[in-house]
Amino acid sequence: MNVFITGAGRGIGLGFVVHYLSHGHTVYACYRNDSDELAALAEKHNDLNIVQWDVTLPATEHFLQSLPAQIDIVINNAGIYGPRKDGQSLKKITAEAMHEVFDIDSVAPLRVVQTLHSRLRSPGGIIANISSKMGSSSDNSSGGTYAYRAAKAALIIISKSMAVDLAPEGITVITLHPGWVRTDMVDFTGLIDVSDSVEGMASVIENIEEYTPGDLVAYDGKVIPY
Ligand SMILES: NC(=O)c1ccc[n+]([C@@H]2O[C@H](COP(=O)([O-])OP(=O)(O)OC[C@H]3O[C@@H](n4cnc5c(N)ncnc54)[C@H](OP(=O)(O)O)[C@@H]3O)[C@@H](O)[C@H]2O)c1
Repeated sequence: MNVFITGAGRGIGLGFVVHYLSHGHTVYACYRNDSDELAALAEKHNDLNIVQWDVTLPATEHFLQSLPAQIDIVINNAGIYGPRKDGQSLKKITAEAMHEVFDIDSVAPLRVVQTLHSRLRSPGGIIANISSKMGSSSDNSSGGTYAYRAAKAALIIISKSMAVDLAPEGITVITLHPGWVRTDMVDFTGLIDVSDSVEGMASVIENIEEYTPGDLVAYDGKVIPY
């Protein structure tokens, strides 16, 4: 299979690269800033193609020419948290921060799918949008975190619309929550390692027929109400 992953230079995205390579797939790994780890993997694996794409920008013709005619799985993983500490409190959140987080966490996954739509295997293609349970309003008991919560909620809804729109083409869309994962995004706090999160989410993708398209599913397979 051809697997396309955004934000693949580090963290969970890099974990997906390692996972799909180790299972014998061909991986198209998108990075924004140069990643020594991704470059080192590409030296060792002929099945790894690394391509630069800041997902807030339209894809260039050169980028599109580097892609295969058919893509089986798209993983929209790239994301940012936005201002840290109390920077997303009611008092401190700014319109600029809201726009920046929305641009990367909500709008960019839509751009990625619009860009790749014609190459997605039909029927049989899968789109996995990496959101967060922080985008679930039923999970929100602590408030705050305006930009990240709202942008991940928007992604859940965008993902649901994609699921409905692409169903007639046999393309299945799912939204994933990686768990609280030890990456840079959470200052390497968190409850689980990247490999556990990725193994779990890859298993959800593998068993996607068990879920309703557009569901928000955690790395442990549990469906999260939103
Ligand atoms: N870690 C958690 O506990 C957790 C929980 C729930 C959801 N998530 C979600 O899981 C996904 C991965 O998070 P992570 O923990 O691996 O975060 P991370 O370690 O901070 O990595 C984020 C990745 O996104 C890329 N990225 C950011 N903006 C981009 C842009 N404009 N264009 C292309 N790539 C961009 C980064 O690239 P650069 O290296 O170039 O910055 C990096 O590869 C995110 O969507 C995040 O919201 C994470």
